[in-house]
Amino acid sequence: MTQKNQQIVLARRPAGAVDERDFRLVETEVPEPAEGQFLVRNLYLSLDPYMRGRMSEEKSYAKPAEVGQVMVGGAVGEVVASRHPKFKPGDKVEGPFGWQLYALSDGKGVRKIEERGIPLSAYLGVLGMPGVTAYIGLLDIGQPKAGETVVVSAASGAVGGVVGQIAKIQGCRAVGIAGGAEKCRLAVEELGFDACVDYKAGHLDEDLRRAAPGGVDVYFDNVGGEITDTVLLRMNAFSRIPLCGLISEYGRPEPRGLRNVRSLLVNRIKLQGFIVSDHLQRWPAALAGTHQVPGDRCGRAAERARRVHRDARRQEPGQAGGQAELRLSGGAPRAHPQAGGCRTATDRAACRRRRVRRTRGGSRAAPRGLPTPATTPIRRGRPSPVPRTCRNRTCRWR
Ligand SMILES: NC(=O)c1ccc[n+]([C@@H]2O[C@H](COP(=O)([O-])OP(=O)(O)OC[C@H]3O[C@@H](n4cnc5c(N)ncnc54)[C@H](OP(=O)(O)O)[C@@H]3O)[C@@H](O)[C@H]2O)c1
Repeated sequence: MTQKNQQIVLARRPAGAVDERDFRLVETEVPEPAEGQFLVRNLYLSLDPYMRGRMSEEKSYAKPAEVGQVMVGGAVGEVVASRHPKFKPGDKVEGPFGWQLYALSDGKGVRKIEERGIPLSAYLGVLGMPGVTAYIGLLDIGQPKAGETVVVSAASGAVGGVVGQIAKIQGCRAVGIAGGAEKCRLAVEELGFDACVDYKAGHLDEDLRRAAPGGVDVYFDNVGGEITDTVLLRMNAFSRIPLCGLISEYGRPEPRGLRNVRSLLVNRIKLQGFIVSDHLQRWPAALAGTHQVPGDRCGRAAERARRVHRDARRQEPGQAGGQAELRLSGGAPRAHPQAGGCRTATDRAACRRRRVRRTRGGSRAAPRGLPTPATTPIRRGRPSPVPRTCRNRTCRWR
C-alpha cells in the first residue's frame, strides 16, 4: 500500500481547555493485518466529551489514554484488508479505531453495519453510543410517564437531541436547554421538542418556569453546574434525575458544586449517575429502539446539529466535545456524500409527511402531556425490531 497512515497522538495532558498543542499528527506506514486481524480505513470519527476525561490521569471509570499513543475514539470505516473469518473487504464497521486514518482490529468491540441507506455517521450518533446513552438514561433511569415533563440540558447535542425525541415518543412534554437561539430553533423545529430555553440569554429560571409551567418530572442532566442548580428549583415531588454528564465542569480546575441540594430532599428526588458501558445487555434493545427515533431517519437533523455545533465551536476555540465528524483524508471536515439526504423512497415519503405536519403547526406549543403527531409517528408497513405497543399515537418500547 503506497498511502501513509495518519495518526493523531496525545502529545501531553491538557490543563483546562484542550489546545492544539496537546496533540501531534504523525505519519506511519499502513500496517498489514496478521492472522485474525483486519485493516479498517476510517471514514468518520466521533469527537465526544468523554475524551476530555481520557486525556486526564484523574481516577475515572476508564483508564486514561497514554501520552504518545493514538488518541482513543469511536469511528466508522470500511474494511480494506482482512485475515479475520468474520470480516471481509468492503464491510462497513463501527468500533474503537481511534484518531487515525487506518486501524488494525481483531474484531473486539466492533459492530458490522448493515447498509440500509442510513448515513454512516448516524452510527456514531443516534444509532451509536450517544443514542444508547439517551435511551438507557431516559427510559431505565428517568422512567418517564406519559403526560410528564422531561427537561434535558445540552439539548442540541448528540445525546440530548435523542432524549427529547424519545421523550416525545413516550408521550411527554420535551423541554430542551441549549446555548443560543440557533440551537434552540434546531431543537424545536428539527428535533420536535415542545420548547427550548436558551441558557445564554441570562434568565434561565424565568424562561424555564414558562417552558415547564407544571414543573419538571425528569431532568436528564448532561451539564451539571449552574444549569442543574437552576433546574433543581423547578423539580416536582418524586421526580428523577438521570445524571449523564457534567460537561460544564470538564475543563475546570475546581468543581463548582451544587447549592440547591435542599430540593433533592424536600422533593424526594431520585438522582442516579450512570455510565452507558455498564449496561451492555441493554444495547441491542436500545439500538433497535433508536432506529425508531423519527428526527434522524433521514439524517437531516443530525447533519444540521453537526453544522450548528461546528459553527459554535469555531467561535469557542479549545472546547472539547461535539458530535462532529472528521474526514481524516485531509482537507476541511465535510459531510459524507450520503449524509443529509433521504436515500430510499420510504424515507423520502416519511420526510415529506413530517414536513407537512410541521407546516400545519403539529409540534409547537403542545399542551402539557399531549403527544404531537409530528414527533410520534407510528411507522406502518415495516416490522418493528422491538416488541412495542402503540395506542393513541404513542408507542412504548418496554
Ligand atoms: N454517562 C454516559 O455514559 C455518557 C455517554 C455519552 C455522553 N455522556 C455525557 O453526555 C453529555 C452530552 O454528550 P454529547 O455526546 O451529547 O455531547 P455533544 O454532542 O458534544 O454536545 C455537548 C454540548 O454541551 C454543551 N456544553 C458545553 N459546555 C457547556 C457548559 N459549560 N455549560 C453548558 N453546556 C455546555 C454545548 O451545547 P450548548 O451550546 O447548547 O451549551 C455542547 O454542544 C456530556 O456531558 C457527556 O460527557 C455521558
